[in-house]
Amino acid sequence: MAAQALILLGPPGAGKGTHGSAIVEQFGLVHVATGDILRAAVAAGTELGRQAKKYMDAGELVPDDVVIGIVREKLAEEEVKARGVLLDGFPRTIPQAEALGDALDELGYGEPCVLNLVVPEEELVRRLSSRRVCKQCGAIYNLNIDGLDVGDKCPKCGGEIYQRDDDKPEAIRERLRVYKEQTAPLIEYYQSRGLLREVDANGQIDEVRARVLAAARECLGGKDQ
Ligand code: AP5
Repeated sequence: MAAQALILLGPPGAGKGTHGSAIVEQFGLVHVATGDILRAAVAAGTELGRQAKKYMDAGELVPDDVVIGIVREKLAEEEVKARGVLLDGFPRTIPQAEALGDALDELGYGEPCVLNLVVPEEELVRRLSSRRVCKQCGAIYNLNIDGLDVGDKCPKCGGEIYQRDDDKPEAIRERLRVYKEQTAPLIEYYQSRGLLREVDANGQIDEVRARVLAAARECLGGKDQ
C-alpha cells in the first residue's frame, strides 16, 4: 500500500501545531513541522538556523530550496514511509507544493489529503498574541485559556515557557500578509485537484479537535493507530 501523507493547511494561529499533535497521537503518523525544525536549528546555532533566523524573526518565509530540501529528506526516511506523514506548515508556496507532489510520487506515497483549517483573522491575531510555548517539549499553550506566562514552568515536562519572537505584533502582521500573498493560493491549488477538505477551526479547542480528527479519519480511510 502507498505511504500516506496528510497536509495541515491554514494561516498562522489556525491550530496546525495544536491539532497536528492530536492527529499523530491518534493515527501514528510522523509529525513533520517545518517551523519546529527551523526553530530547533536556530536554537542549536547550526548553519541552517543562522540562515533561517533573519527570515523567521521578520515573519518572512525561508527560501523554498532550503525548506524543500529538509522535507524531502524526511519523506525519504524508512520510518516516515512506514508510518505515513503529517505535514504541518509545509507546503506554503506553489513551488513548494509542486516539489512536494514530485517527491511524493518518486518516493511511493499516495495522493496527499489536505485539511484546510479556517479561522477568522481577528481570532488569529488574538491567538498568536497570547500563545506561549514550552522551550523543552514544544507544548503549545494559550495565555488566556491555560493561564501560563513567560517564566512559568511547563505542566507537562517542567521546561521553561517562552513567547516566540515572531509572535510580536509587527511580525504577526507580516506573517498574515505573507500568508495571504503566498500560501492562500494553495487552497485553490489543492481544491482544483479534488484533494482539499475544509475544517471550521473556530470555537473551543475540544470541539475543533473533534472536527479535525473526524476529517483526518475520513482522509486516512477510517484507520486509527
Ligand atoms: P510555523 O511555526 O509553521 O508558524 P505558522 O504557520 O505561522 O503557524 P503557527 O505555528 O504560528 O500557528 P499554528 O497554526 O501551528 O497554531 P497553534 O496550534 O500554535 O512557521 C514559523 C516560521 O518558520 C515562518 O514564519 C517561516 O519563517 C518559517 N517556515 C516554516 N515553514 C516554512 C515553509 N514551509 N516555507 C518557508 N518558511 C517556513 O495555535 C496558536 C495559538 O492558538 C496557541 O496558543 C493555541 O493554544 C491557540 N489555539 C489553538 N486552537 C485554539 C482554539 N480553538 N481556540 C483558542 N485558542 C486556540
